[in-house]
Amino acid sequence: MIEVKNAHYSYKTQPETTKAVSGISLSIAKGRYIAILGRNGSGKSTLARMLNALIIPDSGDIIVLGMNTKEKENQLPIRKKVGMIFQDPDNQIVGTRVLEDVAFGPENLGYERQKIIQRVDDALHQIGIYDLRERAVHTLSGGQKQRVAIAGVLAMRPACIILDESTSMLDPKGQAELLSVVDKLNKEEGISIINITHNMDEARFADEVYVLHQGTVTLKGSPEEVFTDVDNMLKAGLDVPQATKLLYELKKEKINIEDLTIDRNRASDIIGRLL
Ligand SMILES: Nc1ncnc2c1ncn2[C@@H]1O[C@H](COP(=O)(O)OP(=O)(O)O)[C@@H](O)[C@H]1O
Ligand SMILES: [Mg+2]
Repeated sequence: MIEVKNAHYSYKTQPETTKAVSGISLSIAKGRYIAILGRNGSGKSTLARMLNALIIPDSGDIIVLGMNTKEKENQLPIRKKVGMIFQDPDNQIVGTRVLEDVAFGPENLGYERQKIIQRVDDALHQIGIYDLRERAVHTLSGGQKQRVAIAGVLAMRPACIILDESTSMLDPKGQAELLSVVDKLNKEEGISIINITHNMDEARFADEVYVLHQGTVTLKGSPEEVFTDVDNMLKAGLDVPQATKLLYELKKEKINIEDLTIDRNRASDIIGRLL
């Protein structure tokens, strides 16, 4: 449903320009759960903004549900279909009360009142925050605010939701709640998820992982494939799960280990056999 074909993008700030994305190609099928990893400045947010037509590639193409982001008339329809949740929960609140905030999207789409109420109610139930609907948004926790933001996106009936480090400012409980909501939308509603994250535990459960480094994709594959390619992960400035790192270090010492793994139980079996 999303095709990125050799996309390039530079920020043109006087006097210099900063190359942020340098020839990325990838393809995201409907209903997939994708994780994107990369150190700070590797181009993740720039890629995310290109996927929902907030910025347009200098060259190359982004095709969302058959629509090229370059065509002006496609940009609004694309933004309805690809929802974005940002890092800071306080930067995406638009309404005072939860109900108003969630209604903002469908109101802007110009739906009639009854349809708006229906969509907002559905979204609040799906995300499990119906009880919070009369609350002032500023009185909520960070995790609750992020769920309000997701409900707002959901009320627009998206095909894809992008989370741009959306859990990074939340406490562990807020993180877990947000991820469980996102997982449910993926599994039960078939909504594609693109989770940009620093947290390896979030990437572990993705269908596919992409690693960005200096504006290009340097690694892609299943979590197992990507995290056991320790050399390339380290080159990209990223860490790997502890169990994998331990096997990697032992292997470097010429200890006889055939395959690395991200599975803690398998790792402890391998080490058990060595002992
Ligand atoms: N608004 C901007 N103006 C100028 N340079 C930017 C802007 N946003 C990002 N950059 C630069 O583009 C590069 C990629 O940034 P970004 O896509 O935000 O990476 P990430 O999200 O992986 O941290 C970095 O060098 C960053 O400094
Ligand atoms: Mg970013």
